[in-house]
Amino acid sequence: MASTFGAAQVLVASNRGPVSYEVGHDGALHAKRGGGGLVSGLSAIGPEAGALWVCSALSDGDREAVRRGTGEKGVRMLDIPAAVHADAYNGIANSVLWFVHHMLYQTPLEPVFDAEFRRQWASYEEYNRAFAEALADEAAEGAVAIVQDYHLTLVPGMLRELRPDLRIGHFSHTPWAPVDYFRMLPDDIAGQILRGMLGADRLGFLTRRWAEAFTSCCDALVGGLGGTRIGVHGLGADAEFLRRRSREADVDERMAALRAEIGAGRKAIVRVDRTELSKNIVRGLLAYRQLLADRPEWRERVVHLAFAYPSRQDLAVYRDYTAEVQRLAQEINAEYGTAGWTPVVLHVKDDFARSLAAYRLADVALVNPIRDGMNLVAKEVPVVSDEGCVLVLSREAGAYEELGEDAVVVNPYDVAGTAAALHEALSVGAAERAERSKRLAAAATALPPERWFLDQLEALRG
Ligand code: G6P
Repeated sequence: MASTFGAAQVLVASNRGPVSYEVGHDGALHAKRGGGGLVSGLSAIGPEAGALWVCSALSDGDREAVRRGTGEKGVRMLDIPAAVHADAYNGIANSVLWFVHHMLYQTPLEPVFDAEFRRQWASYEEYNRAFAEALADEAAEGAVAIVQDYHLTLVPGMLRELRPDLRIGHFSHTPWAPVDYFRMLPDDIAGQILRGMLGADRLGFLTRRWAEAFTSCCDALVGGLGGTRIGVHGLGADAEFLRRRSREADVDERMAALRAEIGAGRKAIVRVDRTELSKNIVRGLLAYRQLLADRPEWRERVVHLAFAYPSRQDLAVYRDYTAEVQRLAQEINAEYGTAGWTPVVLHVKDDFARSLAAYRLADVALVNPIRDGMNLVAKEVPVVSDEGCVLVLSREAGAYEELGEDAVVVNPYDVAGTAAALHEALSVGAAERAERSKRLAAAATALPPERWFLDQLEALRG
């Protein structure tokens, strides 16, 4: 795969890369480009300027692309042995570190740090080492490398040893756990993670709250930050891209289909998430059910468009959660639905054009995560919605720091409170709704992805 061998001036490393491949029936490789802030951020630089993205080969097509030595310029995929990747990604990153930072464990069952955990941890180290070595091979003298997220916490320290000349950054897209929760990790592992990250010159977080939590962990467990600097970069929505993309023909088509599902004269409460435990989809549905129970005046007058796209389905707990979301949606429809009204329209097939169509139609956006690094949906809906929307927002989402003032704020555990918030949001008048939505959109786009990335680059170079 495309390699610059010691020539890259700017390197990004992340588990999931900007592109993935499928092998077609004709045996040819078909590339699918992903979205997200990092993709648009890095496009500000591009391969011509010596930028390289190092990521995992995740699909059969990706591995085939590595074997054939083809692939996009500016992207290097690492074909890490499947068993090592599964341990590191499913075992450690998504079942341990994700759960710690989102505070998702449920006693008395979890967590259990046993021999199996230790075995998986060795794979996590091996997987991190593969990234560190690839970055060390590819980077030009004095280059900047920015490592992403909880999958790769050990890379900065490893890379620092291999290439002391580099300027190394790390950015966390998740929350950071409070110290009393973080220290449930075995002491040596907690120390290894913190020291690994402190191998960077500079660490980036999405909000002040997560940066402070990290700093407290370092103060309590490893004697402070050492020479490492901390920065806060609140990634914003990509307004220019979203406004253009949401006006394309396929989005218009999806809008017509969704309008038919909603029915004339009804309001739409929209949510769009990965089917992810931390997104709190089940409590969102429970709150909607309570709204219909407590406020019969909304029956037949509102539809909940819930888009819950499959995620991390290798993990049993995610499969169970997906089933629970589907069961509950059916239950609400059986309980309240009528011949002409389906109270919950649940879509589980990932479709970006349909998500944008729902954003445009949203009267209310429901974003109620238990904990979330930022939550870009909260930022995207106000930018795209046609008539302005009212945002019901969890105070535990990173986006709350910037959007809290103009949202209807909820405690994500409080189902009755969320039901009351939905009622309040549905009741806001058109003029106020448009005003609030405009202010939300302005706050949501304050730091576009390009600027977000360039700020980090400049801070590392400075
Ligand atoms: C979060 C993480 C990302 C991750 C994404 C999707 O936003 O911060 O690093 O890529 O979830 O999860 P997945 O496991 O499908 O990559």
